[in-house]
Formats: sequence, C-alpha cells, structure tokens
Amino acid sequence: MESLSLAMNGRLCRFKQGQTILEVAKENGISIPTLCHLPGCTPTGACRVCLVEVSGARSLVAACSTPAEKGMLVSTETERVHKTRKLTTEFLLAGGNHNCITCERSGDCALQDLAYRYGLDKLRFEKTPQPHKTEDVNPFIIRDFTRCILCGRCVQACQDVQVNRAISFGYRGPHAKIIAGADVRYDESDCVFCGQCVEECPVGALVEKKSKFLGRVRDVEQVRTTCPYCGVGCQLTLHVKDGKIIKVTAAENGSPNKGRLCVKGRFGYDFIYSKERLRNPLIRENGEFREASWDEAITLVADKFKEIIAKHGPDAVAGVSCARSINEDSYQMQKLFRAVFGTNNIDHCART
Ligand code: FES
Repeated sequence: MESLSLAMNGRLCRFKQGQTILEVAKENGISIPTLCHLPGCTPTGACRVCLVEVSGARSLVAACSTPAEKGMLVSTETERVHKTRKLTTEFLLAGGNHNCITCERSGDCALQDLAYRYGLDKLRFEKTPQPHKTEDVNPFIIRDFTRCILCGRCVQACQDVQVNRAISFGYRGPHAKIIAGADVRYDESDCVFCGQCVEECPVGALVEKKSKFLGRVRDVEQVRTTCPYCGVGCQLTLHVKDGKIIKVTAAENGSPNKGRLCVKGRFGYDFIYSKERLRNPLIRENGEFREASWDEAITLVADKFKEIIAKHGPDAVAGVSCARSINEDSYQMQKLFRAVFGTNNIDHCART
C-alpha cells in the first residue's frame, strides 16, 4: 500500500487513506482543540474551534472533518489560527451563562480549557439573553440550556451511539435548542435515561443530578470496575470521594460497552449503600430469618442437596444460573450439576 504523508507544523506525519487532519494530529501527539467532535461519529464541523491552516487553502479548515491528503502542509498554531479560535471562544462565552463559579463542570470543561488556552481574561461582547429555562424535573439529568453551546455531541450520542433518537436540534437562530421529542421534558419523551448525553456534554449544560456538588473532578479517585447488573460485563469508572461512590461513568474504550452504559449501570449504584442490602446469608427457622455465616449457609445447602439426591436420585435437583453471573461462574455451576451431582438439569435465566 502506498505510504501517505503530510507535513504538520513542519513535521513529517504518515497517515492512512481516509484519516482526517485531526486524527493524524492525534496520532502524532499534536494537540488541536475540539468541542463538537465525537470520536466514532460522522464529524459535523459545527463548533469551528479545530480550525487549522492548510497551505494553498484560502480559508481555515476544520481539522475534524477535513480528510488528510498526501503532501499537505498543515499549520495548527499560527497567529491566524489562534485569533480565530479565540474569537470563536469569545462568541461561545457571550452566548450563554458560562459562570464557572457556579458550574458543576468547572475544572472539567472543554470551553473553560479553551478560554484558558487562548488567554481570555475579559469578555468583549455583550451577553446574549437566554430564552430557555433550566429543566430540573426528572430524577437523573439537569438540562441547563443557558450553558449549552449547541455543539451537538449529545444529539450524536443519543442518535448515533445509543441509537435512541430521543433528542435533536430544535428551533432556529438565537432560539436554537436541543429538544427532546417535540420539545417536551426528558421524562415525557422517548429518553431512556442512559445518560450518554451527559457523558458526552463537553460543558456544564447536562449534569447528573445525583452527583451535583458532591465532588469536583480533581477531588475524586477514579476506579475501573465491571458493572454488577447483567452478565454483559460493561466497564465502568467509579468516581469515588472519601471512600464513597458519587458518580459512575463508562470506562473509555473499554470492551464490551466501548464508552456506553444503560440507565442501571450509570445511575443504579445506590443499592450499595442501602440499609436493606443483604450483607450476610439468612437461614429461615420456624418461619423467621436469622443471619448465618457463609460456612453455615453453604453447609446447609450442600446437606439438603445430598439428602434430596440420596432419596430421589440426581434428576430430582436442577440448577438455574443467573444472567448476572460471569461466564466462568455459569460454567462452574453446570460442571457441579453434571459432574458432581450427575444430572443434566441445568438452565440459564437469559435463555428464554
Ligand atoms: Fe471540528 Fe468542532 S471539533 S468543528
């Protein structure tokens, strides 16, 4: 295959046919800021902060949506590029309530990073009045339209990544808004509360209600783990503060979920701290449960199995493996029933 190369900031960069300038830059450790770009989705080129200069092109081009070409001369840090990105950032800041002091995403915001990167210490433009009020009526997600930069990442996350198609762009001009259905509340729309829109929002327009004010990104320890709900084994990142989980996000690039989660995996972690959660085995005696040790409980179950098999034969027992178990546990369960008990009476609850 022909080896393709271009020059970026004076450096020779090799690339594969079909890669964008942004992808080539990333592979070569060259940082180009982005807001609307959602890896894996078709680039929309909506925000214009990834503009770069290409020799021979009259205007700046969006790195996220421009294919790399053999022999291109790309400059990502010229004065013209800086001026344009700075101006775009100024317009975005003037277009919303980007008050970092009160924003949950402060310290973890792509717009804040841009303002810092381009040294924006004052706003030259008047603030645009915000026509849409914050929506805070569902149990999981706060939608603050005054902080929305209309980058469309949430729409792509909903439509292309999760394929729920619950949200889209609505209205026009200064009234433009990300709408659910025909501009209804999230809880009255087709939204399934997977929270992918929150995960992909680069600013503080979409935030998780449960974790608000519980800890900034710099305060939390991130712990990679596997979702406890079903047997798919989605990879999670737990955000832990003072030994307590305050938020769950999808582990980036982790298989099998590749950055996606369902409503249970993302928001259903409260059970960990429930007072009603069973922490020890219970044995029923005279119609009442009493706590027992694992040894005592396992011995009791084993004795009961032995008793039934001795009396009625191995086909008198059966095992149903749980969809929440990992494959290895299900394998061991059928091995126990087939090889030890001597019956093929095994099944799995996800089979039906
Ligand atoms: Fe390229 Fe937004 S990241 S236009």
